[in-house]
Amino acid sequence: MKVEVKRMSDKFDFKKKINFDIYRTGLRTHICGELRKNHEGSNVVLCGWVNKRRDHGKLIFVDLRDFSGVIQVVFDANLSQASYNSAKDLRTEYIIEIRGEVKVRPDETINNDLLTGEVEISTQEIRILSASKTPPFMLDDRAKVDEMTKLKYRYVDLRTEEMQSNMRLRHEVTTVTRQYLNSQGFIEAETPILAKSTPEGARDFLVPSRLNPGAFYALPQSPQLFKQILMFSGFDRIYQIARCFRDEDLRADRQPEFTQIDLEMTFVKVEDVVNLVEGLIYKVFKEVTGEEIKIPFVRMTWKESQETYGSDKPDLRFDMKLKDVTEISRDSKFNIFINVLNKKGCIKSIVIDDYNEFTRKDLDDLVDMAKKYGAGGLIWIKVEENQVLNSPISKFLSPGERENLIKFLKLKEKNLVLIVADEFIKTCTTLGAIRSYLGSRLNLIGEEEFKFTWIVDFPLFEWDEKEKRLSPTHHPFTRPSDETLKYLKSDPLKLNSLAYDIVLNGNELGGGSIRINNSELQKGIFKLLGFDTKRMEENFGFLLRALEYGAPPHGGIALGLDRLIMLIGRLESIREVIAFPKTQSAVDIMTESPSPVTEQQLNEVNIRLAKFKKETEE
Ligand code: AMO
Repeated sequence: MKVEVKRMSDKFDFKKKINFDIYRTGLRTHICGELRKNHEGSNVVLCGWVNKRRDHGKLIFVDLRDFSGVIQVVFDANLSQASYNSAKDLRTEYIIEIRGEVKVRPDETINNDLLTGEVEISTQEIRILSASKTPPFMLDDRAKVDEMTKLKYRYVDLRTEEMQSNMRLRHEVTTVTRQYLNSQGFIEAETPILAKSTPEGARDFLVPSRLNPGAFYALPQSPQLFKQILMFSGFDRIYQIARCFRDEDLRADRQPEFTQIDLEMTFVKVEDVVNLVEGLIYKVFKEVTGEEIKIPFVRMTWKESQETYGSDKPDLRFDMKLKDVTEISRDSKFNIFINVLNKKGCIKSIVIDDYNEFTRKDLDDLVDMAKKYGAGGLIWIKVEENQVLNSPISKFLSPGERENLIKFLKLKEKNLVLIVADEFIKTCTTLGAIRSYLGSRLNLIGEEEFKFTWIVDFPLFEWDEKEKRLSPTHHPFTRPSDETLKYLKSDPLKLNSLAYDIVLNGNELGGGSIRINNSELQKGIFKLLGFDTKRMEENFGFLLRALEYGAPPHGGIALGLDRLIMLIGRLESIREVIAFPKTQSAVDIMTESPSPVTEQQLNEVNIRLAKFKKETEE
């Protein structure tokens, strides 16, 4: 697993915010990153890690490091033979305590890369506090180190400047979030980690109950129902920096345990939650990196977003909109178009400036990519000299059709048109994925930008082709919009929801909704999702009962905290912002978890393992 780790934006520099005074302890008078020219002549005691040691004959130089920075420490045989001798034994990552005097460095040896670069410590005494084996990698080489090695020796990896900065960024984002939500009248509420298994979307992590043989808790996928129930209990506004657990396939932006900024509010409309979250995001950026994010964010309906960007999480850092050519293809004699139109599908296109960017092989790869994303294929058309359209389907295009395409898409010489014709969602998703690919491939994305969008008016349900049943686009507790409620019985796929997603640079940052606060409607939705009365009671009896005792209108949202921090830090993976993340196969390789347990432990929770083969043995 290799992760390309980019350097964090210069906009976040925690070292500039350190209050040095609070770090004086029994073992030190100062911290390493603190010392400047004005400390000249001070006698100091410093503690830290040996970052590097350089032996120059009678002089040994050590870069001493703690969280606050690095300072050069000099051991001079002429000044103290004893400490010079000890310094000879020092190795990288030893932890030492030194006593010495701050000296201003001669001009020609000033190190402008260090904040402490104008001074050094002339050492009189040294004490080795802890020795270290040769570390598995040098901290400065982090960018080149395999991720497995970094995760196995995470305690070393976390010492790197990048990880120190990422963890502090995380801390600041969380702190500002708490401050902001406190200022808006929210109280922080904890909810159970040993919770009930309720079908919410992903697979649950289960925990056997020793005291209740045969019964299991589930780790919460989110505090969704507890935060709703706290609204029924009259708390008006609650939030939680919530640990969530989902047993799903992992990706760069997914972990089996992750953290959400979860909040819930009473007597609100969509607008209230949206405004509050914009205020939160504005504040977080302003306080943490000093950036002024433009609010309000762009707002788009789900339909518009699919139509225009082929996605419900559009990356607005580049334009390249999808253009619908269904109407102008109505009279086409091309079989694929005729079939799609007969099935009420749609035909969409993307126009690229210059076909010379693409070899024939590149075009074949695009066709393969389209097939991978579920469409039947992809048609390309090159606009050559004198507006001649060159395409594998040229012979099927009538002169009228060609003229229509040129006019409607405003085609110019050298343009490349990519067309997908299929069912609405397949067409959108396929061209949307190709759009994302082209954004990177053609360098269209402004890496420094933060483009937020709200997506609203989602369909309440999606059709699950595999299971042949409805499934909720968000979760089953989302309220349908008043305007579409009339389709509840007749045509549930026409129901829209009062859900909203917040999207940042093409990433789903968070999602929420106004909830159902009526037991009958909630039962109706469960029924549409295929729950019979028995299962409804088993899984959600507590919620349906709670809804019968006075449940106010309410709504909320959850933002992925790890994702937010990853995006603010312009990092490539959420593993970079989690101290002890899991690998792609959900393993913590530092602690070697998960791991087998003893027969006795299993007996205590009444579990007998079925025979199984480890994947590696297959
Ligand atoms: P949802 O399932 O959309 O909503 O989750 C909200 C946000 O949490 C983040 N997220 C994840 N981050 C890392 N790893 C994961 N495996 C992972 N899964 C989700 C995403 C996502 O947008 N209960 C609802 C919220 C609500 O309605 O209030 C919920 O959990 O950034």
